[in-house]
Amino acid sequence: MESNRRFLQFFDKDEYEKLVPESDEQKKKPFPLFQKDFGQDTKLIDLIPPEEFEIGGKSFLDVVNRRISRRNYTDEALNLEELSFLLWCTQGVKKTFKDKAGVLRTVPSAGAKSPFETYLIINRVEGVEPGLYRYISFTHKLFFIKSIEDAERKISELTYDQKFVGKGAVIFCWVAIPYRTEWRYTILAHKFIAVDLGHVSENLYLACEAIDLGTVAIGYYEQKKFDTMLEIDGKDEFVVLVAPVGKRPIL
Ligand SMILES: Cc1cc2nc3c(=O)[nH]c(=O)nc-3n(C[C@H](O)[C@H](O)[C@H](O)COP(=O)(O)O)c2cc1C
Repeated sequence: MESNRRFLQFFDKDEYEKLVPESDEQKKKPFPLFQKDFGQDTKLIDLIPPEEFEIGGKSFLDVVNRRISRRNYTDEALNLEELSFLLWCTQGVKKTFKDKAGVLRTVPSAGAKSPFETYLIINRVEGVEPGLYRYISFTHKLFFIKSIEDAERKISELTYDQKFVGKGAVIFCWVAIPYRTEWRYTILAHKFIAVDLGHVSENLYLACEAIDLGTVAIGYYEQKKFDTMLEIDGKDEFVVLVAPVGKRPIL
């Protein structure tokens, strides 16, 4: 257990020089892509651009004060503006660096490396076929990957029988691609990735609160089975956090 704590710490100068290896950036290796590729002929779904949002106008302090983990969702669908709002607030791209070696988003990230892809399991969004999707953040679009049979049951099973998870209208699944951060930070990357993930997850909490939706971060899930469902290799790409989102019952 104690050795696991080490990754949360940083280094003094003398240790840094001894322990931190030369990075691929220093070796002049090409930087990794900041958006996972998808097929040329793929039909993408347009999302609502942020300048057209009519939702989310609540006071910031109200949103922060009201945020809690919410595990009870109705059968109602989200609409496309709500889903677009959540994706924009968690991973929206504001600017790409000229040399394309980094990207500025609505959330901070160490070295602007943005080591995540957002996968969505959509159960109920108006006008969108249920299934597995990926957010194409560079153009603010959705990429359909496949249908998932019996998604509610499957997702509940894969989250150690937390039944409410499968009942979300949409289930966010953040996938880490560690090399994006390792390229520069080598063994320092993993702490930074964990911190980056916290920012993304908190923005989902706050964005949900701002538009009267509910969410909860889910750290308990079956790693290998979840990775397999998302068709990722579990080594260079793997799930790091899950979060169902849904409409809240009126109490
Ligand atoms: C990294 C992380 C993992 C979590 N995993 C779960 C989980 O698997 N199941 C669950 O019901 N809640 C989970 N939670 C939610 C916490 O239980 C919750 O944030 C905590 O009890 C505080 O409550 P609050 O968010 O309402 O303030 C997780 C939260 C975080 C930040």
